[in-house]
Amino acid sequence: MLVTTASEPLNQVTADVLIVTLTLGATLPPEVLRLAAVADALAHQEISAAYGKTAIVHTVGGLAARKVLVLGLGDGSKLNIRRLRRAAGIAARAARQSGARHLALAVPVLAHVAPALAAQAMTEGVLHGLHQFQTFKQGEKQIPQVETLTLAGDEIESGMRYGLAVAEATNLGRAVNWLPGNHLTPAVLADKARAVGQECGLEVDVYDKQGCEELGLGLLLTVNQGSTEEPRFIVMRYRGNGGQGPWLGVVGKGVTFDTGGISIKPSANMWDMKYDMAGAGAVLGAMQAIANLGLRCDVLAVIGATDNMPDGNAYKPGDVVSGLSGKTVEIRSTDAEGRLVLADGVAYARRQGCDRLISVATLTGATVGALGPVRFGLVTNDDAWEEEVFAAAEEAGELSWRLPHDDEYVDLFKSPIADMANLGTGGAAGVQVGGLFVTLHAEETPLVHMDIAAVAWNSAANEYEDAGATGVAVKTLVRVAARFANRQERM
Ligand code: BES
Ligand code: MN
Ligand code: ZN
Repeated sequence: MLVTTASEPLNQVTADVLIVTLTLGATLPPEVLRLAAVADALAHQEISAAYGKTAIVHTVGGLAARKVLVLGLGDGSKLNIRRLRRAAGIAARAARQSGARHLALAVPVLAHVAPALAAQAMTEGVLHGLHQFQTFKQGEKQIPQVETLTLAGDEIESGMRYGLAVAEATNLGRAVNWLPGNHLTPAVLADKARAVGQECGLEVDVYDKQGCEELGLGLLLTVNQGSTEEPRFIVMRYRGNGGQGPWLGVVGKGVTFDTGGISIKPSANMWDMKYDMAGAGAVLGAMQAIANLGLRCDVLAVIGATDNMPDGNAYKPGDVVSGLSGKTVEIRSTDAEGRLVLADGVAYARRQGCDRLISVATLTGATVGALGPVRFGLVTNDDAWEEEVFAAAEEAGELSWRLPHDDEYVDLFKSPIADMANLGTGGAAGVQVGGLFVTLHAEETPLVHMDIAAVAWNSAANEYEDAGATGVAVKTLVRVAARFANRQERM
């Protein structure tokens, strides 16, 4: 979608639908208020300031735009990046439903949210609300796509640019995440990473099975043992600070399909496990946005890609294996494969000299019980670094929560035969066990693990977004990188 800004008066902004907002106790912009059709709609209480309510009014020549959509924002003092994003998604979908191809949006002037931030949030909301995944649909009549969005207002340019970059990156993550296991093999995921690298000027190295063997990625190779699809280990480098560091390392779980392996999953809803590479999708999207925004920091991205299949060659419960960190692992469940893949990625990023690490993965079903389909979980070996990531998530308008990481949680996955087991006793504290397993392979390097299993996929559509992949974590990763860049400038 082409997104631009305009500073002319609202009556001169051309569009099929011009979206204007109304907060409780406020009035509409004068150019809109003086339209006879708007006065009539107000008189008949067809326009509401209630949050998320929309009303479409034909301008019959009174404005350059053919129609006006009044979007209620509710209580202005409650508005924040998330509520603005969501409201913009609702409005964009209503405008598309009315046949609009060219949208304009008057960015509201608010007491508590700066114009640039409002522009960012609403750009994100429009692009997310309109995102559809229809690659494999034939024949079914599609709703006409919106082609352009014009944001009207002052001091909104920087916010629009940032919002556009992260929204496109999030939608990239969503699109990759939608792809089923037969279309998105590890090799295809690597091709996508190469394509992103080419477009945005990132260095991309891809290691095939033999390359993984040479690197010593024993844990990734263990998970891959039962598969006929070769693994890929994908490394992307962005030198926004000239490569002098400090380096931020982001590691994504790229399990392109998770059957559970020999510890096979129940068949009901197993198809869901095509989204088990959401962490990798988020890393890919984040690297695109970080590069497109030209952030002044060095970032290393690592993706371990494989599927997890049962087979005669597959790894088995009881096996003792090890990978790049050299630590030995007793396999208690072949379905706890994500932490193995991440462990090799994290060990690699640490050895490459990363100063701060983040891992992002659909790691445990336990996050559903702990935090529900609302917030993603954070687990760490370094409180200060975790506070930084949590603050970045809040700034980015993504919901997360910090889980405790006492040594007693590490005791839960002790093994009598190896340095650690890949499963905790009785499945207790599943989110912490999964996350802390990964931190052990980061050794002394600060690592924050993001468990996005419960929030990476929406099982049903809501009023502001389609069902399916959410692209969660992209915005947080970009924000972390932006804060990393600001830190350099202060130094
Ligand atoms: N990919 C799953 C986690 C998952 C569950 C993602 C639900 C999305 C939705 C992961 O590999 C897994 O199977 N985890 C196990 C871990 C257990 C064996 C310790 C789980 O959560 O059951
Ligand atoms: Mn699994
Ligand atoms: Zn998995």
